Amino acid sequence: MTLPERSQSYWIASTPETSYEALDGDLAVDIAVLGGGIVGVTAAYLLKQHGLRVALVEARRIVTGVTGHTTAKLTSLHGLKYSQIVSQFDRERARLYADANEGAIRFVAAVVQEQGIDCDLHRMPAFTYTREAGELDRIHAEVEAAREAGLEASFVTETTLPYEVAGAVRVENQAIFHPRKYLLGLARLVDGDGSRVFEHTTARDVREGRPCVVTTDHGRIRADHVIVATHYPFLDRGLYFARLEPMRSYALGIRVAEPPPQGMFISTGEDFQSVRPHPENGGWLVIVGGVQHMTGRSSVPTMQHYRAVEAFAREAFTVESIDYRWSTQDNRTIDGIPYVGTYTPASPHLFTATGFDGWGMSNGTAAAMILADLILKRHNRWAAAYDPARVGQLTKVGQVLRYGASNVDHLVRDRISQAAPLEVSDLAPGEGRVGKVGGETLAVSRAADGALHAVAPACAHQGCLVTWNEAEQSWDCPCHGSRYAADGTLLHGPATKGLERRPLVE
Ligand code: FES
Repeated sequence: MTLPERSQSYWIASTPETSYEALDGDLAVDIAVLGGGIVGVTAAYLLKQHGLRVALVEARRIVTGVTGHTTAKLTSLHGLKYSQIVSQFDRERARLYADANEGAIRFVAAVVQEQGIDCDLHRMPAFTYTREAGELDRIHAEVEAAREAGLEASFVTETTLPYEVAGAVRVENQAIFHPRKYLLGLARLVDGDGSRVFEHTTARDVREGRPCVVTTDHGRIRADHVIVATHYPFLDRGLYFARLEPMRSYALGIRVAEPPPQGMFISTGEDFQSVRPHPENGGWLVIVGGVQHMTGRSSVPTMQHYRAVEAFAREAFTVESIDYRWSTQDNRTIDGIPYVGTYTPASPHLFTATGFDGWGMSNGTAAAMILADLILKRHNRWAAAYDPARVGQLTKVGQVLRYGASNVDHLVRDRISQAAPLEVSDLAPGEGRVGKVGGETLAVSRAADGALHAVAPACAHQGCLVTWNEAEQSWDCPCHGSRYAADGTLLHGPATKGLERRPLVE
């Protein structure tokens, strides 16, 4: 066994657990922010700074979800994003996207300095590279698009990676940081003086009005405005389910014998490789990542994805130890730009932000800045580019809806009716399967200690059949990316409750 037995992010392992109380009864505030990741915490901080009373509500512990499982690159260079935006939209849209992300990096750096938050912030360049000569045209095109968008971009063939590259886009003055150290520092500034942070409080519904009413499992919150910052918007409005693709990817925290590369690196292509260093106790941890597949739709057992990242790490570096493994989830939008703004065109008091496509540190910060400005009725020059109702979205949604409907239908009906009989005693430790047990279709898994868990196999969101994720020991939904622990506890929305437990005797 060369990989850590348990999945645990370095960011969570290296910071203390928070202990904010749950909501206890009804409450009235100016702003309710649902979701304690980078968007929610940053927006709550900005709005409180403006004198508003904010309730920041998190279903589990803050900064333990997607933001707690990032690779934490604070950069405006996002693979080949600028070429993509120019081809989908125009140069002006690419300029706004670059400006938003550069603005977000400046914002984080300024807050870190003003508030004295120790979060390992270091400036370094970011690179998108290829090892294939045949890909060089795309690299050159990205250099051009990024430059025209206003970034300090250049074409290079030399990097500090321990292997040759054919060519790379290099953008100067980007940053790495420790996202939990940063956001736990911001959350401390949110809690108090009429504003509160609530953990273990799950929002179940929002009724928009004057005021809006958020129903949670611990009481109701009345607020003038509500921000849904739950990664995947959990309210079934605005057709987000038809225009977001939840994707999973994998990371390792390793120690290497050689000096680590100084920069943030990502290769082109779906089978990307990602490398970035992080300072730790006078040394360096190197975070390597890669592999992407739709949530709940891995074609191979998910531990194989970690092994693929490990194989890359061992080929590239002299690996002394692999100390951490973790995986994360990102939402991809139809056109590559996040959705940030009012939840629907007819919801002036309800807002959301999603679809950062793996670039949530800078985009998530920019999203919080946009949302704060919209709520405070201040002009924000990036808002139109990120508007969830921007031109072109609805025609594209029509196409996706037709695909999505047949897809969901297939995932639910075929697999329920075709579920094979399941012999529970055949399940090995760590294994999970959906099958018929005593005439009922169940999702059954066996923990490492041999304990069996049986849950209803239909996702609590819209009923798709969940699939087993052996690497994370979770049930993942292939339709919109909800995830559940082996015992059915909800880990990730859009579902707002867990899978029902079923009695099972071996
Ligand atoms: Fe929508 Fe499972 S997440 S059906």
